[in-house]
Amino acid sequence: MSTTVDTTPAGHVAEAVRRHGGGGPRRIAESAGLVVTHGEGPYLITDSGRRLLDFATAMGVAAIGHANPVWSEAVGRQAQRLAACVLHTPEHADYLERLAAVLPFGVDRVALYSGGAEAVEVAVRLAQSVTGRRDLISFSSGFHGKTTGVRFSGGRFPEERVNLGVDWVHTLPYPRCEQHDSLSYPSCEEEGAAAIAALELCAADLHDVAAVIVEPVLGTAGNRPPQRRFLAGLRALCDAHGWLLIVDESITGFGRLGRTFAVDWFDVRPDILVLGKAMGGGYPLSGVAAPSSLWDASLFAQPSATSSSYGANPLACAAGIAVLDVLAAPGFDDQVKRTARRLADGIVALEAASPFVARNRGLGMMLGFDLVDPATAELAGSDLCLRLFRRCLNAGILIVGDVPEVRLNPPLILTEHGADEAISALQDALAG
Ligand SMILES: Cc1ncc(COP(=O)(O)O)c(C=O)c1O
Repeated sequence: MSTTVDTTPAGHVAEAVRRHGGGGPRRIAESAGLVVTHGEGPYLITDSGRRLLDFATAMGVAAIGHANPVWSEAVGRQAQRLAACVLHTPEHADYLERLAAVLPFGVDRVALYSGGAEAVEVAVRLAQSVTGRRDLISFSSGFHGKTTGVRFSGGRFPEERVNLGVDWVHTLPYPRCEQHDSLSYPSCEEEGAAAIAALELCAADLHDVAAVIVEPVLGTAGNRPPQRRFLAGLRALCDAHGWLLIVDESITGFGRLGRTFAVDWFDVRPDILVLGKAMGGGYPLSGVAAPSSLWDASLFAQPSATSSSYGANPLACAAGIAVLDVLAAPGFDDQVKRTARRLADGIVALEAASPFVARNRGLGMMLGFDLVDPATAELAGSDLCLRLFRRCLNAGILIVGDVPEVRLNPPLILTEHGADEAISALQDALAG
């Protein structure tokens, strides 16, 4: 085994993270082998001055781009005044009022936290508390976080599930849309009939279901939209059986699909909405939105029952308000839609031209495709993925693509010109 020590500054950073960090380092960071010192709008800048279009956006967190002046000034100003406080603050009140104005009708009371999994935990406890029931239905290719309780929703970590004897989380297949690409998806008419039938069977078997948790578009599983009418069917089924519908908008929320929330795009009423990622623009901020009727009927109606050390701190609220300010800028939505359309056109053309790209898909600024091995037409193996991922980096773009199920999460501030630059980089990198 080679014992060569990488003495470059990038090597030193990676080594320090590996040596002192708890758990394994992030896979994508190891795959890239780069060190980023700062960001500018849609770009990340490495320690050697390379500029990369950031289509990872920290898995959707950096939706308003890097060093956004509206956000950095608001956070800087607030940091100089007050960062943490357990008493009421004007920032908390302002933020809740601003959120209430953009949240879907009815789910307008929000508890604030600092991480997505934490918010999912609260959403599940809220559903269990209100219904007096215990079970949770989730989808096998969904992802909702890695904390003790929620890591069992979705199909991950099966070995731990066995060890801990978790019997209250049930996972069913998610009805992915396989028939439409990123341009034609809005015309998908499929209803997810097989998934609805599986849920009906569950309803016959399980009598203690509190809620169903769903990602409106699968993120971690490769930015895959569902069969388009599935969510409406799921809503109807929840109504029929008295289950609460928890929609996890950690990735889709705050404009990624070209509407403020995915439930707006799919025209579906949630009972509980999980918010996170883009919400804080990089400041750790998440939330659970639900109607008064649920909050008031739950154990969380009592003071402090669901507060957390970082939840609703004024710095987080200032960051959240700044994100809403950016999203509310005149013409912002239209710009997002135009850029998303340009990207969708681009990845359809990319698939036609590249032997490595198949099954492009997605919606709004949540796009994806599969990397395939042209020799076998199967999903690309890890060596090929790594090679193609690094070719993308060399061409000037970071994608979530050191795995075969590629995700493109561009910043929402990307312009059409930026979209052209991205597609051209992908075309260079993924040519035969
Ligand atoms: C849909 C969804 N929900 C929840 C989470 C967990 O969020 P966090 O990593 O902030 O705990 C993620 C993380 O990727 C996610 O994609």
